[in-house]
Order: sequence, then C-alpha cells, then structure tokens
Amino acid sequence: MSRLHIVGGNKISGEVKIQGAKNSVLPILAATLLIKGKCVLRNCPKLSDVESAVEILRYMGCTVTFEDDVIIVDSQGAKNYDIPDILMRKMRSSIMFLGPVMGRFQKARLCFPGGCELGPRPIDIHINAFREMGIKVIERHGCINCNTTEKTSSREITLPFPSVGATENIMMFACTLKGKTVIENAAKEPEIEDLQNFLNKMGAKIHGAGSGHIVIYGGRELFGAEYKIMPDRIVASTYMSAAAITGGELYLKDVVPSHLSAVLSIFEKAGCHIKKGRDYIYFKAPEKLKNVKTIMTMPYPGFPTDSNPVIAASLIKAKGTSVIIETIFQNRFKYTSELSRLGANIKIDSRVCVIEGVEKLYGAKVEATDLRGGAALVVAALGAEGETYIDNVFYIDRGYENIEKVLKSLGGQIERI
Ligand code: UD1
Repeated sequence: MSRLHIVGGNKISGEVKIQGAKNSVLPILAATLLIKGKCVLRNCPKLSDVESAVEILRYMGCTVTFEDDVIIVDSQGAKNYDIPDILMRKMRSSIMFLGPVMGRFQKARLCFPGGCELGPRPIDIHINAFREMGIKVIERHGCINCNTTEKTSSREITLPFPSVGATENIMMFACTLKGKTVIENAAKEPEIEDLQNFLNKMGAKIHGAGSGHIVIYGGRELFGAEYKIMPDRIVASTYMSAAAITGGELYLKDVVPSHLSAVLSIFEKAGCHIKKGRDYIYFKAPEKLKNVKTIMTMPYPGFPTDSNPVIAASLIKAKGTSVIIETIFQNRFKYTSELSRLGANIKIDSRVCVIEGVEKLYGAKVEATDLRGGAALVVAALGAEGETYIDNVFYIDRGYENIEKVLKSLGGQIERI
C-alpha cells in the first residue's frame, strides 16, 4: 500500500492545469446508459472513482475504453440491470446509476452501502422522487428493487433539500418519460449544468440547470454524443489552499472562476490577491494569512462542503481565530484530529470547528480519513516543518489525479513511496 512522504516548507508556486471534475464525469458516465450507442467523453480525470464507474458500466455490458483523458462508452450491449454489492461499495455515489438504469431497462436492482466516511448518506430523497415518478421501489436486505411500467410523466417534484445526486438521478430518468417533469428546489451546482449540457447534446430537452427550477421535456430520441467535462472546482480550491499555506503564487489554467466565487471570496478575506480571467485565476498568497471569522458550508452557490477541509488546513497558521460551520455532512470534521498531530490547534463542537492560528506546524505520521480530509493533510504537511507521512492514500486517489506529480511540479517536496 502506498503512502505520501512530504517535506514541508517550500512555496507552492507556478502554473497548474486543473483536471476534469470528478463530480461531473461520474453522473455523465452513468448517463451514457440512456442510449444504445457510443459516447466520447474528453477531459476525464484518471481517478479510482472514475475507474469504479467504468467497472460498473463494463459489468452492465458496455464496452469502455479509457486512454489519456478520453473515455469512450459503447452502451449498445448493456444487458444487466443490477449492480452487485461489491461494485456499489467501491464508490458510494454509485446510486446515481439508478436513474439511467431505470430509464434503460424499466427495472433496477442495487445494494446500497449505508453510511459513509462523512456520516450516514441516506437516499430517501432519490427514492421518494422515483416513487412520485411512478416507480415501484422495494427496499429489502440492504438492496433496492425497482420497476416501472410508467411511460409518461407530467410531474412537479419538489425536493425537501437540494440534493445533488437526487437532482441528477431525476433529470436522467425523466429524459426517458414522455411529458414534462419539473424539479423544484433542485440543486444548483455547476456539475448539474454540465450534466444538462451533455444530455441536451444527446438530444434531450432540459433547461433551468443552475437554478432551483429545472424542466425536462422527456421522451425524445437520444443518441451518442461527444462532450468535454468541466474543470474540477474542488481540486482548484485544494491547490489554492496549498499555495495559501506556503505563501505561494499560482496561475490556475482551465478553471471556471465563477464556479469558485464563494471560495475566492474567503481567500480574499484571508489576504490573498486574486485576478480572474475567462478560464484562469491568478492567485497570490501573503507570507501569513489573516483569519476568516466565519465560513459556513452551504449548497451552491454557497461555500462548498468539499472545500471545507482544505481551507481549514490553509488557515491553521493564519493570524487569529477562524470558524467553520458545516451544514451538509455530519462527520465532515474527522480529519481535524489528524491535523492536530501536525500541531494544529483545532476544536470541534458538533458542526462547528474553531481554528486558533499557530506559529508553526511540525511533520508527523498521519492517516487520511476520507477524500477531502486526506487532501487537507497534504496541504497542512506542505506548510509544516520537517517530514510527514500520510497513509490511506487510496482516499486521496479517489479525487485527485497524480496529486504528488502536480505538487512536485509546483515546487513541493512530495513523493509516493
Ligand atoms: C454530491 C457530491 C459530493 C458533495 C455533495 C454536496 C458527487 C458525486 N458527490 O454528493 O462530493 O459533497 O454533493 O455538495 O457529486 N441527503 C439525504 N437524503 C438523500 C440524499 C441526500 O438526506 O436522499 C443528504 C445527505 O446526507 C447530505 C445532504 O443531503 O447531508 C447533501 O447530499 P447530496 O447533495 O445528495 O450529496 P451527494 O449527491 O451524495
């Protein structure tokens, strides 16, 4: 099993191209099941979560190739409508296959893994929405069986919370039902707009993604499409955090600055200098960051929960006290006990994290507790004196393509051993 070895102290500076978005490519891969033909997806990041989604597609009978950053899915031969437990457990967000599988086969069987490293991850919003769309759902022995004879839909579904995955699942299934489906209180994340653009390229008619009101005119003939995945805003926020804690200067290429507004405004409060272009961000951190009084994670366009850990890590050495309030995931702060091993002064009370800035951090042996928590350890280790060893790197590999290679190219002393 590999671990990361980091010697902190170097500034993270230079030019970095941001990889394609994990949270965009995953639902788009699932959506390829909606047609019987070929889709070509560009700018796909090489991540273990993406490999897991590819494995699910292959299990279902699709032919998939993944070379460089291009995935080609031929879903002509898809025949299986179940996803075995072992594949479901590899990637907890595999629930997003439910909508496309139902759209393709009018039946589906999948096991759900229950809780995840961020706390319980219920799927009640997905299931209730599917029931409203005429799907019969039976939950038994940790698995769900679904079937439907419904061919038309003229429904308005109001989500109790703007769940990203539920919004995507409904959009994908609704494409296959004749009539108009409206989603109210839909999630507004940019990845949903990316999915809409892809589905529309396949011949669907959807508008409103990016707002809380999405309209899907279903039942149209769908065909294969070629599509370029949007850039990963969470990865961009991670590399900016690494530059922020080390007093570095970055030029981020292939980003959409408007997707990062909430994150950039926090960095500006911390004293960073930022310039934005159409598809780039220039980022310069001061020698020492200022504290940020309050950061509250919220659904988009609020501050993203996935950026909570890396921003927290960047603020450990800031002047004064910073507070982060987590409103999306119950167990988001598990990583903070590992940060304390590096010398961070962090206190957690339920969903509130109080960071008292410290003068110095010191290298230590730590373990990633989850994907973004693992990235937070990398950020902190780059800002620490001496050597850090990070175990459980497989968490980090779920969302970051070659993290050590990228950071090394930016001046970091980091290697995989
Ligand atoms: C997606 C992202 C994840 C991000 C999250 C929130 C992907 C692959 N993953 O996850 O990186 O952290 O959005 O921005 O895109 N909930 C329920 N019942 C449900 C569904 C969700 O109670 O049926 C709750 C969840 O437990 C959580 C909150 O709603 O507390 C947000 O979940 P959701 O927006 O669905 O996140 P995901 O789609 O799982």
